[in-house]
Amino acid sequence: MGMLDALVGRLERWEALDTVGQPLAKAVGRVVAPTPVRNLLSGTMMGHPLHPMLTDIPIGAWTMSAVLDLVGGEQAERAADLLVAAGVAAAVPTAAAGLNDWSDTQGAESRVGVVHAAANSTALVLYAASLVARCRGHRSTGKVLALAGLGALLSGGYLGGYLSFARGVNVNHTAFHYGPDDWTDALAEADLAPGQHRLAQAGDISVLLVRDGDRIQALDSVCTHAGGPLEEGEIADGCVTCPWHGSTFRLEDGSIARGPASIPQPAYEARIRDGRIQVRARP
Ligand code: FES
Repeated sequence: MGMLDALVGRLERWEALDTVGQPLAKAVGRVVAPTPVRNLLSGTMMGHPLHPMLTDIPIGAWTMSAVLDLVGGEQAERAADLLVAAGVAAAVPTAAAGLNDWSDTQGAESRVGVVHAAANSTALVLYAASLVARCRGHRSTGKVLALAGLGALLSGGYLGGYLSFARGVNVNHTAFHYGPDDWTDALAEADLAPGQHRLAQAGDISVLLVRDGDRIQALDSVCTHAGGPLEEGEIADGCVTCPWHGSTFRLEDGSIARGPASIPQPAYEARIRDGRIQVRARP
């Protein structure tokens, strides 16, 4: 195990972070509760999580400002200042989207998320102070503050990458669920009365089957957002709501009525043949 892994492992087990994280997550949860706010900050309308898209702007702007500060010379000073300001402006909505995502995490992910947010907030404060120093003509101070900010930014960025790629936070939990190419047996028709729903297995995927008369609707049962069990969710108005964080998917086609999910739920074709319910991937 490398030094960084050991360090992050310690953060994951540092329960004292929960004393900050849990009340903050509740407060953020209240702020993002309205559906339009939730959908906007989650990236639901774009079909892609918003936070990782926005992070490119401050990271890119601040990194390039460091290059100009270090080797750009006098003629690049205005451009460097502009990049610092652009990063500060973009960091605010980036943080809001990140807090929204983080409020759905728990345990180890939540603790690492607290430190990720603290490092990035430190970067924001340092870059804002750098901007003020630059505006007042204290360029050397501005450069030092920006370099310190870059250090905090890189630390925060590392932890953000760790959360996504090592812990799977906010990745599509059905990325490799393709569904069977051919009609595949899932359940006896008699086991799913009209108006009921059941969890069934079709080949190597688990499906939520919902019956309305002779019509069967089939969604992948694993929530795209964080893997919640949709078969335990509430079904109403042609939608299923995930019991974990409240993402709501239309049974018709898996499209999202409410985030935090940003990736639609895989929907499969279903039919009744010879007393059996069969499922296959949509063409
Ligand atoms: S797992 Fe988060 S909404 Fe389903």
